[in-house]
Amino acid sequence: MSSTLLFELTDGVCRITVNRPDKLNALNAIVIAELGDAVTRIETDSAVRGVLVTGAGPKAFVAGADVSELSAQSPMEGKARATAGQAVFRRLERCGKPVVAAVNGFALGGGCELAMACHIRVASDQAKFGQPEVKLGIAPGYGATVRLPRLVGKGRAIELLLTGRMIDAEEAFRIGLVNRIVPADRLLSESEALLRSILENGPLAVRACLETVDAGLDMAVDQALLLEANQFGLLSATADMREGTKAFVEKRKAAFKGV
Ligand code: COA
Repeated sequence: MSSTLLFELTDGVCRITVNRPDKLNALNAIVIAELGDAVTRIETDSAVRGVLVTGAGPKAFVAGADVSELSAQSPMEGKARATAGQAVFRRLERCGKPVVAAVNGFALGGGCELAMACHIRVASDQAKFGQPEVKLGIAPGYGATVRLPRLVGKGRAIELLLTGRMIDAEEAFRIGLVNRIVPADRLLSESEALLRSILENGPLAVRACLETVDAGLDMAVDQALLLEANQFGLLSATADMREGTKAFVEKRKAAFKGV
């Protein structure tokens, strides 16, 4: 698709690779714009059924926003930069298709925020996570203050945000920031296998889970339960639900069509 972002589609899985390895895949304005284009394709191309996000090179997933761009920004430029990145990450989070981050090295600042906007995080045993913004005299702008406490709890999130401390994959796993750790040389294959296991399930049901968890977390319990019941009922109108339940009874694998 472009030079700072690789977009490869193979049998339903779109692999997005942030591709600035000489700058540890730091997110400059071009990467964010190209990520926006990639998300548009993910949202609209029915050939894309799931997404893998990773970083080029052996060292970094993404080492943050591009500090050289931040250093000269005015207050309004800073706000616009944060808003633009937040919007792209939020669209990725709400694209309706499963998104797995394959975290191959440093996931710092905007890199940790990008990983958190993905639905599932698989970390290589070499991965490192952190929100070091305060060390630069700034606070996170791509969603860490919102998503980190939701993933790891308020106390742990505040400690990480205030210290800027880097944590390894083991600690990230222990606090719930990543779903699993795999050896570095198996990161992409294991991440893709996890994603493909999800893609065997009914895509409308998977989308419903993503939507109800995303919306439900910000609702009162009774409203969230009502939303869940409505989705449960709505899915009963789909051919996939008939096929899935029939296949179970007939002891065969379901052939879902996404309708
Ligand atoms: N923005 C811009 N450039 C970055 C970057 C970032 N966030 N992170 C790394 N780079 C660049 C470095 O400037 C260097 O470029 P150069 O070779 O042209 O000098 C290159 O990537 C390699 O990084 P380097 O610092 O030499 O690697 P290292 O192994 O010594 O250290 C890190 C790795 C991740 C610890 C270190 O690069 C770092 O602290 N990066 C910034 C992390 C950060 O604060 N992110 C949040 C930003 S809000």
